[in-house]
Amino acid sequence: MPEKRILLLGSTGSIGRQTLDVISRAPELFDGVGLAAGSNVEALGEQALATQCRCLGMGFAPAAERLREEFPDAEVFAGAEGLVEMVEACRPDLVVGAISGFSGLPSILAALEAGINVALANKEPLVAAGELVTRTADASGAEIIPIDSELSAIFQCLKGESRADIKRIMLTASGGPFAQLPAEELASVTPEQALAHPTWRMGRKVTIDSATLANKGFEIFEMRWLFGVSFSQVQVVVHHQSIIHSLVEFCDTSILAQIGRPDMRVPIQYALTHPQRIPISIEALDLVEGRPLTFAEPDVEKFPCLRLAREAGEAGGGYPVVLTGADEAAVELFLNGSIRFVDIPARIERALDAYDGTAPNRLDEIRNLNDWAYEYVTELDDE
Ligand SMILES: NC(=O)c1ccc[n+]([C@@H]2O[C@H](COP(=O)([O-])OP(=O)(O)OC[C@H]3O[C@@H](n4cnc5c(N)ncnc54)[C@H](OP(=O)(O)O)[C@@H]3O)[C@@H](O)[C@H]2O)c1
Repeated sequence: MPEKRILLLGSTGSIGRQTLDVISRAPELFDGVGLAAGSNVEALGEQALATQCRCLGMGFAPAAERLREEFPDAEVFAGAEGLVEMVEACRPDLVVGAISGFSGLPSILAALEAGINVALANKEPLVAAGELVTRTADASGAEIIPIDSELSAIFQCLKGESRADIKRIMLTASGGPFAQLPAEELASVTPEQALAHPTWRMGRKVTIDSATLANKGFEIFEMRWLFGVSFSQVQVVVHHQSIIHSLVEFCDTSILAQIGRPDMRVPIQYALTHPQRIPISIEALDLVEGRPLTFAEPDVEKFPCLRLAREAGEAGGGYPVVLTGADEAAVELFLNGSIRFVDIPARIERALDAYDGTAPNRLDEIRNLNDWAYEYVTELDDE
C-alpha cells in the first residue's frame, strides 16, 4: 500500500488523538502532513513537536496567533477560512474530518470539492448539509469513508453489495447513561452524570448527544446520505453492549452485521486503510466469554431528540440545519449549567417550530440558518 498523506482536522479531540495513535503504529503507511484544532494551542503544539508536522491550523484566530509565536518555522492557518486554505495547501491524499459540530463543514466541503477523499467522523455536516456534501463528493469523484462505528459497520457490510437490495438498516444504540433511569428523574441529572457514557469515551458534545439520543438521530441522517436509504428504512435498536455496531437486512431477509469490541481505533484504522485491512494490536472479541447480547426498542417518549431528528429529516429543507444549530446551543447551555437535561429537546423543538421554512441551498445560507437556530435557542427563556 503506498504511503498516504493525511491531514487531520480536529487532531486534539478524542477521534483526533486516536487517529494519531493509529498513524503512529504504521509509519510506513501514513504520513501526517497537517494538524488542525480549535483553540487548544498547548495540545496542538505538543502534537506538532511529536509528529514534526509544520502545517498547522487553528479554528480560532487568536489561538493561531499564539501558535505562530511558538512555531515560527511552521505554516499556521487561522479560522474557518484558514482551514479551507489549509486543505488546498497541504494537498493530502486523505482528510480526516474530526472537528466537532457544524464548524467542520467548510473544510470538509473544500476537501471533497478538490477531489480529496474524506474519512469522516464529524456528524453535523451530513445532518445539516447532507445533500450538498454528497453532491459535492459525487461531482469530484471523492469518496466519503465513515469513521463513526455504526456507519463504518454498514459501510463494511455493503462492500460488494448493491444498495438497491437494502431492505432496512438496523442502527444500534448503546442507550447512553440514562437508559435505565426513570423518565421523571431526567430533569435533575447533572452534566457530570450525562458525561459518564457506559461504553464509549468521546468528546463532550457527542457524549451529551448520546445521552439524549440526538446522536442516534444524527446517525439516521448519515445513513440516509451515505447509503441512499430513506429515513423510514433505518430502525434504531437499543443494544447496550455496543458489540454489534449495526446491521443491514437485504431483500432476501439475509442480515449482515459488523461485530467487535467498542474501540474507535478499529473503524478509524479501517477508514485510513480502506479498501485494504491491516492488523491492529488490540484485544479481539471472544464470543464465548459470555456477555449476553440484548436488543430493545428505543423509548422516544423519554428521549424526544430521536423523534425530533426523524421529523426534521422527513421535513427536509432547512429543518435539519435548525436541528444541528439548536442542538449545539442547547448542549452548550446544559454543559454550562444554564438549562436542565430535559430542556435540550424542549429548546430544539421550539426552534424547529419557530423556523420560517425558507430552505437554504448554498453554504453561506446553511451557515446563516445554523447561526439563527443557535442564537434562537441561546436567547430562549424556559417556559
Ligand atoms: N469520539 C467518538 O468516539 C466519536 C464517534 C463517532 C463520531 N464522532 C464525531 O466526531 C467528531 C469529533 O468528536 P470528538 O469526540 O473527537 O470531539 P472532541 O473530543 O470534542 O474534539 C473536537 C475536536 O474539534 C476541534 N474543534 C472544535 N471546534 C473547532 C473549530 N471551530 N475549528 C477547528 N477545530 C475545532 C477541537 O479542538 P480543541 O481541542 O482546540 O477544542 C478538537 O480537536 C464529532 O462530530 C463527533 O460527533 C465522535
